[in-house]
Amino acid sequence: MSIIVYILFSPSLIVFIAAETSSITLSQSLSYGKTLVSPSGIFELGFCNLGNPNKIYLGIWYKNIPLQNIVWVANGGNPIKDSFSILKLDSSGNLVLTHNNTVVWSTSSPEKAQNPVAELLDSGNLVIRDENEAKEDTYLWQSFDYPSNTMLSGMKVGWDIKRNLSTCLIAWKSDNDPTQGDLSWGITLHPYPDIYMMKGTKKYHRFGPWNGLRFSGMPLMKPNNPIYHYEFVSNQEVVYYRWSVKQTSSISKVVLNQTTLERQRYVWSGKSWILYEVMPEDNCDHYGVCGANTYCTTSALPICQCLKGFKPKTPEKWNSMDWSEGCIRKHPLSCQDKLNDGFVLVDGLKVPDTKDTFVNETIDLKQCRTKCLNNCSCMAYTNSNISGAGSGCVMWFGDLYDIKLYPVPENGQSLYIRLPASEIESIRHKKSKIIFITSVAATLGVVLAIYFVYKRNIADKPKKNENIERQLEDLDVPLFHLLTITTATNNFSLNNKIGQGGFGPVYKGKLVDGREIAVKRLSSSSGQGITEFTTEVKLIAKLQHRNLVRLLGCCFRGQEKLLVYEYMVNGSLDTFIFDKVKSKLLDWPQRFHIIFGIARGLLYLHQDSQLRIIHRDLKASNVLLDAKLNPKISDFGMARAFGGDQIEGNTNRVVGTYGYMAPEYAVDGLFSIKSDVFSFGILLLEIICGNKNRALCHRNQTLNLVGYAWTLWKEKNALQLIDSSIKDLCAIPEALRCIHVSLLCLQQYPEDRPTMTSVIQMLGSEMELVEPKEPGFFPRRISDEEKFSSNLNHKTSNDELTITSLTGR
Ligand SMILES: *[C@@H]1O[C@H](CO)[C@@H](O)[C@H](O)[C@H]1NC(C)=O
Ligand SMILES: *[C@@H]1O[C@H](CO)[C@@H](O)[C@H](O)[C@H]1NC(C)=O
Ligand SMILES: *[C@@H]1O[C@H](CO)[C@@H](O)[C@H](O)[C@H]1NC(C)=O
Ligand SMILES: *[C@@H]1O[C@H](CO)[C@@H](O)[C@H](O)[C@H]1NC(C)=O
Ligand SMILES: *[C@@H]1O[C@H](CO)[C@@H](O)[C@H](O)[C@H]1NC(C)=O
Ligand SMILES: *[C@@H]1O[C@H](CO)[C@@H](O)[C@H](O)[C@H]1NC(C)=O
Repeated sequence: MSIIVYILFSPSLIVFIAAETSSITLSQSLSYGKTLVSPSGIFELGFCNLGNPNKIYLGIWYKNIPLQNIVWVANGGNPIKDSFSILKLDSSGNLVLTHNNTVVWSTSSPEKAQNPVAELLDSGNLVIRDENEAKEDTYLWQSFDYPSNTMLSGMKVGWDIKRNLSTCLIAWKSDNDPTQGDLSWGITLHPYPDIYMMKGTKKYHRFGPWNGLRFSGMPLMKPNNPIYHYEFVSNQEVVYYRWSVKQTSSISKVVLNQTTLERQRYVWSGKSWILYEVMPEDNCDHYGVCGANTYCTTSALPICQCLKGFKPKTPEKWNSMDWSEGCIRKHPLSCQDKLNDGFVLVDGLKVPDTKDTFVNETIDLKQCRTKCLNNCSCMAYTNSNISGAGSGCVMWFGDLYDIKLYPVPENGQSLYIRLPASEIESIRHKKSKIIFITSVAATLGVVLAIYFVYKRNIADKPKKNENIERQLEDLDVPLFHLLTITTATNNFSLNNKIGQGGFGPVYKGKLVDGREIAVKRLSSSSGQGITEFTTEVKLIAKLQHRNLVRLLGCCFRGQEKLLVYEYMVNGSLDTFIFDKVKSKLLDWPQRFHIIFGIARGLLYLHQDSQLRIIHRDLKASNVLLDAKLNPKISDFGMARAFGGDQIEGNTNRVVGTYGYMAPEYAVDGLFSIKSDVFSFGILLLEIICGNKNRALCHRNQTLNLVGYAWTLWKEKNALQLIDSSIKDLCAIPEALRCIHVSLLCLQQYPEDRPTMTSVIQMLGSEMELVEPKEPGFFPRRISDEEKFSSNLNHKTSNDELTITSLTGR
């Protein structure tokens, strides 16, 4: 019965019965309601509207994806009002879209075809070719040359120099208006080609030139990416970039988004589009924020710094955070006497804008240096190809623009910057001085350490406060007046209190300009929280990511220590997932969006932020949700930062929350990025199951959630874990995959657990997953666990309580 109804009411099926075709020839035309379908049924071409039936477009869309599926429109700026329109292939081999006998849109192939045919391919490319032409891939015209806002697997963006044809993405005005917006993304043909996102005629974001491995400004683009293959080709005839998916079953698209001013990469999960990658990502990704001869880094405050040997052009402006005039040399180059100039090597950079460059691929670095020294306007040089041992030569002339310094040096590349000999000398001098000072300091340090350990118990509080005040000043975190905050929060009225954080109450407030804020107030009585307070300010002030909560500023006045954050309308994640009513508001696509966002935030902390941060207290109540239910990790009071390659630490002060702590951390105080991965695993299970790890997932079980999940997994019964409010059957394969990933994160030995990079790759693709080994903590039953914690003298009156000290109070 239901099958008959389906046939009667499904128009697409009727088209199917009336012979589905992927091409039209001279004698044929396509009218409203008819479609072309690519040979394997992946893409469909026809007439569509974007919610307004009076605006009809000729478009191409994913046939089997119901949401945001349109990847190309022909007549974006020129919609048709009604359905009386026809697409025809004319005798010259051009596609012509007419409405009431007037031409709305047409192609213009330069060559005339004997026997033209227009075909929709499985790649989503609409092509016109000559049937008499035997060669494949010689198209008279193809839609891939004229993309809309979407880049598909296999599509080239760049230049066909012979044809003087540039292919770039152009954003739609909005989600339901495919008129061209002012945001575009494509390659500019400098000697060293660069890739820009333009807003109108202004550079908005620069990906950087291709350096043989990746775009200089795209550290996440790794050659061994399991999902994508990246390709860049540059020669006399063509310069282009394209990416393709390694597994044909993966569906992924890149969209230029006018609303958010971003280039977004999405992956289709089978149920929803997952945002896999976003550019620009932080403030330093905005083109030229810092002016000439500077570098931008999120690891220093202010984010703009002069290059070595340079000073602010206008100090007054520079000091008031107007960096537009940039920096100038402290001492002029001697140039004429080339022996008197030299170069300083700076590592970890996105190389400068390549507008004025020169490339020679056949010479090495030494010759490059000589060549640069011989030209007075050459300011910097480096290898044009950093793959392998490095090769080729690229030189920059004139002022250097839009350099970014990556906190993790291997994310960037080296650049040799020209300086006068006197400057080089002083840098060398400083270096040897530093070495001397370090060795003296090391000796002194031991002595001082002994002294302070001895002194510590009698250290007085006011001194500590002064110290914090000084540290905060050094940070340049915006300071709020106490009066501003008391006004905003109604003098910390109880009505404004929205929660209790690790070291004090949290209040909601509203600034005079209307912005809503959340204010964390360090309880004045608590001496214990001061370290956490400064840690939090120090760390979060330097962190900028869409999945981390933003610190707007702080206030430090006498006994009051306040942190001011952007306000998150939807509160914390735990109030959703552990609540019978509210959990129904989170359907599976939303939960997956949250999971993915947390993963990206954590990845940023672990790898991409300058500090390599271990959060140490990741849990549902520390994930906040904004108005659009985007997750933001908060509460960095327990976090630890690491320099360079250090990924593990040891502490005699175990902090964190029971139920989320990795075994090696809770037992031995050994923490690493892998203990955060463990906590992420717990969080993942909780989001899927809708129960706290410390609570029982199933009444008859004496196991905690991890134990329960593992038991069900071994019985091949993991389906039972999925929260009953996720009723959608289509979500199940994805949810099961998340459970699988979660169990990989929960494995007992840290070395077995994946990194957050792999977690994101596993969640965002259909790659094969290994079988998880037994999780940590599994054999312990709840009662044992409690005994274990009370033995250590912890305050465990409440599962959710954050344990802040081994010694208790
Ligand atoms: C079609 O075009 C003719 C002449 O240009 C015009 O008179 C007529 O109103 C149009 N019909 C529609 C439906 O737009
Ligand atoms: C290339 O095309 C642009 C416009 O698309 C035009 O301004 C320019 O003159 C062309 N260049 C050549 C060499 O034909
Ligand atoms: C732009 O991004 C927003 C937020 O991520 C999303 O809701 C919207 O659908 C995107 N627009 C397009 C055209 O993809
Ligand atoms: C590169 O440098 C070599 C050696 O100086 C020279 O022979 C060659 O012509 C140069 N190539 C280009 C493209 O300038
Ligand atoms: C230095 O390089 C610039 C840019 O390529 C060029 O215009 C200039 O002629 C060169 N000067 C010398 C002395 O070679
Ligand atoms: C860069 O260098 C690598 C290793 O030498 C080489 O395989 C690759 O072809 C080079 N790439 C370009 C664009 O020259």
